Amino acid sequence: MSHPETFLLAGVMGWPVMHSRSPKLHSYWFERYGLAGAYLPLAIQPDGLERALRALGPLGFAGCNLTIPHKEQALRIVDHADDRARRIGAISCVTVNKDGTLTGTNNDWYGFLENLLEAQPSWRADAGPAVVMGAGGGSRAVVDALIHAGAKEIRLINRTHERAVTLARDLGGPVTCVPWAERHAALDGAALLVNTTSQGMVGNPPLDLTLDALPRSAIVYDIIYIPGQTPLLAAAHARGNATLNGLGMLLHQGRPAWKSWFGLDVEVTRELRALIEATI
Ligand SMILES: NC(=O)c1ccc[n+]([C@@H]2O[C@H](COP(=O)([O-])OP(=O)(O)OC[C@H]3O[C@@H](n4cnc5c(N)ncnc54)[C@H](OP(=O)(O)O)[C@@H]3O)[C@@H](O)[C@H]2O)c1
Repeated sequence: MSHPETFLLAGVMGWPVMHSRSPKLHSYWFERYGLAGAYLPLAIQPDGLERALRALGPLGFAGCNLTIPHKEQALRIVDHADDRARRIGAISCVTVNKDGTLTGTNNDWYGFLENLLEAQPSWRADAGPAVVMGAGGGSRAVVDALIHAGAKEIRLINRTHERAVTLARDLGGPVTCVPWAERHAALDGAALLVNTTSQGMVGNPPLDLTLDALPRSAIVYDIIYIPGQTPLLAAAHARGNATLNGLGMLLHQGRPAWKSWFGLDVEVTRELRALIEATI
């Protein structure tokens, strides 16, 4: 693969953005495939998002990723978005089309599933009930992924119950909203537990969840990746559950972005994972 005549450009828009691991991730792929290009952190304030997105094409960018707080607002700005992005209500990636228009997609759901299948190749969505903690943007991508992978029962639990109810209504599927007070008992019989809340992330207290009712055969997946092992994952690991964190979700969502920006298939290698892990 080589494009000697072209300098490939992409980036991530966020506010703040300098904490993002994405420039390191995408730079690895430029180097691995011997391509001339750059992936830049783009510090864009919310009131400048539309102008920044519209400038991508004229500046020669193939597109960009979006991070906090831009994912929902960007969906309202782009010219085209697929059904999935509209259902989820947020986009994580923008591609500049040949005619200069912008297409938005959400690749978080893809990263979530690919990471799970990489860690647990025999996992099946219909193996048993999935419990999803949280109903924010990450949860919307996770629940949509589970529904379309064939989950038969999803128990959705959020501190603010109304937000879970809205999510269930927007996404449809076999989602039951369980009150926050019943979260510990709701783990009974689950095959998969996913934390999509911010609890357990660096600087936040642990998720308040007792695992006693969770079968030891259940997979426990925390989409947080800083720290690499949240208190939830440590507790699950200690009692014998298989665990995984959200780093692979971040890595894998980059693959469809490259396909869309540059038409290239890139790989999540062990070397790449180790490179990003070393920064955490
Ligand atoms: N690995 C990845 O690629 C990836 C992708 C996306 C997100 N994430 C991670 O997922 C986490 C959530 O991100 P997001 O974008 O979904 O955020 P968000 O939209 O702000 O949602 C935050 C969620 O956390 C819950 N929460 C906050 N404080 C809580 C508390 N004290 N007790 C219980 N629940 C609480 C919120 O519940 P309420 O509705 O009650 O406020 C909500 O469900 C972050 O750690 C983020 O880094 C990772």
